[in-house]
Parts: sequence; structure tokens; C-alpha cells
Amino acid sequence: MDAGERIEQALELAVGRAEAENGPPQLAAAIRHAVFSGGARVRPRLTLAVAEACGGDEPAIADAAAAAIEMLHCASLVHDDLPCFDNADTRRGRPSVHALYGAPLALLAGDALIVMAFETLGRSASGAPQRLVPLIATVTRGVGAPFGIVAGQAWESEPNPPPEQYRCAKTGALFVAATMSGALASGGDPAPWRSLGHRLGEAYQVADDLLDAVSTKDEGGKPVGQDVALGRPNAVAELGIAGAVERLEMLVESAISAIPSCPGENELRELVRMQAVRLAPKRLLRCAA
Ligand code: IPE
Ligand code: IPE
Ligand code: MG
Ligand code: MG
Repeated sequence: MDAGERIEQALELAVGRAEAENGPPQLAAAIRHAVFSGGARVRPRLTLAVAEACGGDEPAIADAAAAAIEMLHCASLVHDDLPCFDNADTRRGRPSVHALYGAPLALLAGDALIVMAFETLGRSASGAPQRLVPLIATVTRGVGAPFGIVAGQAWESEPNPPPEQYRCAKTGALFVAATMSGALASGGDPAPWRSLGHRLGEAYQVADDLLDAVSTKDEGGKPVGQDVALGRPNAVAELGIAGAVERLEMLVESAISAIPSCPGENELRELVRMQAVRLAPKRLLRCAA
């Protein structure tokens, strides 16, 4: 099974558990919509690639870590789109979860996904239970307070959020959790994998800021021009379009050079490079010229 199939299968298993016959059907449908609506699965691919680079001796734990990271990401998008945050009615080219099911169910679907992520991790580790505690610590750091997604979203309620800390918390921290949890799932040392996640995560947010500034709604499948409309600190306001493209290219190169020497190093470089091509569509590069 390739990485993409492993991710979909692990997500299907987790989401299927929320679809018991006697549970609330709209909540189950909202959860399914949040997870299976066309996400690029960048973070879980990274988790599986690092797990393989570290030996891949416990694929069930690696699959669970990858699925947990993706469920947390999906939860963050559902919450981010709510009227009390970015008030976005589309996501991945489809109606956002609250646009289809209403804000109360969207809030609850996000909550359920967060709980399901940790349930998934907990269920997976019977083959190597000693890996569970560091895995949970690493994943929680990527999503909670004071450095994870929760903190990133909270910076938006502060008067002058520091741009780099804001970017790192709202996006970088989950990428760090993605790479480090891949190492931990295979019993490897997570420390050498921090920089790759950190740099790629920041690159990803700079790219997202560029897309918000210069793309059309159809290209990204979500509203554009939101950073200016909502007064969000963003890389384009900070550096201009050309400066943001330059920073993006620098971050991608430095992410590639942060890949530790390991088996499958070339495949991992290729994965990061592929993301770079996806992140920096030619139109953006022409814009900078
Ligand atoms: C979007 O992430 C939000 C950011 C943190 C930039 P992705 O671009 O990975 O979203 P999906 O999962 O592919 O929709
Ligand atoms: C990043 O925030 C995503 C989260 C932390 C949930 P954005 O608000 O910039 O992401 P998009 O543009 O809605 O995907
Ligand atoms: Mg937001
Ligand atoms: Mg948003």
C-alpha cells in the first residue's frame, strides 16, 4: 500500500468509529465532510515519510500518528472557518462545514476530531506502548497553548502579534509535530527532524499568504483577500509580493537542506520539492518579477 492509501485507510477507520448507527447522524456527516473533502494530506505524508526514514518498524503507530495529525489539521480548518474566526463559506472548493451544517455542529465536529485524534493514537500503540507518551507530548505541543494552533489563532486576538511567532504557532507547529511524530512512531530520535517541520511549516504559511493575496477563489478553493479584509498579519503585508516569494524560496531550500542523512533521503527531498512546486505556482513567481 502506498502512503496515500495508508493515510486514507487510517482516516476511514477513525471516522467510521464516529458513525455508529445510534449516534447523531448530522454530526457524523459533518465530521466526514471535514475529513474527506479533498485535502492535500501534506502533513500526514510527511509523518509517514519520516517514519519510513527512521526504520518504519511499527507501521500501525505511524499510520495512527499520520491520521491524528490530519484530523487535527481538519479540525483546525473547521474552527478557522467559523463566523467567529475567518467566517469562510468555502473550503477545498466546497461549502465549509458550518456553511453546510451550521456553526454549532461545525464547532462540535472540530471538537470531536480533536478527541478522535488522541483516541486514534492511544489505540495504536499496543506494539510499542513506551512510544505513546512522547508521541502525545509532541502532538499536543503542535496544537495547544502556548505554541500550537490554539496559540496561533489566539494571537489574532492580541493587538500586535509578532509575525514569525504567529506563523509558527498557527502553521509551523503542526508541521513540526508531523515530522517529529513520524520519528517517534518508529522509535527514532525526533530532535533532528524539528528543523524540517519548522522551515516547511513557515514556508507553507508564507505560500498561503501569497495565495490569499494574488490568487482567485477557484484556485485555492477558499475565499481570497481575507488577510487584508480581516487585518491579519501576513507575509505579503510584511515583505511585499516579491519579498514573500523570495522568503518562500529561501525557506523551501532551507527545509530541503534540513533533512537529516537517512535511508530514503532522496525520496524525502523529492516530497519536499514536490510541495515546493505545488506551493509556488508559476503565476506567483511571475507576479514577483
Ligand atoms: C491550509 O492548509 C491552511 C494552512 C495552514 C496554510 P492546506 O493547504 O494543507 O489545506 P488542505 O488540507 O490541503 O485543504
Ligand atoms: C491557518 O490560518 C490555518 C489554521 C491555523 C487553521 P489561515 O486562516 O491563514 O488559513 P486559511 O487561509 O483559512 O486556510
Ligand atoms: Mg485564520
Ligand atoms: Mg482562514
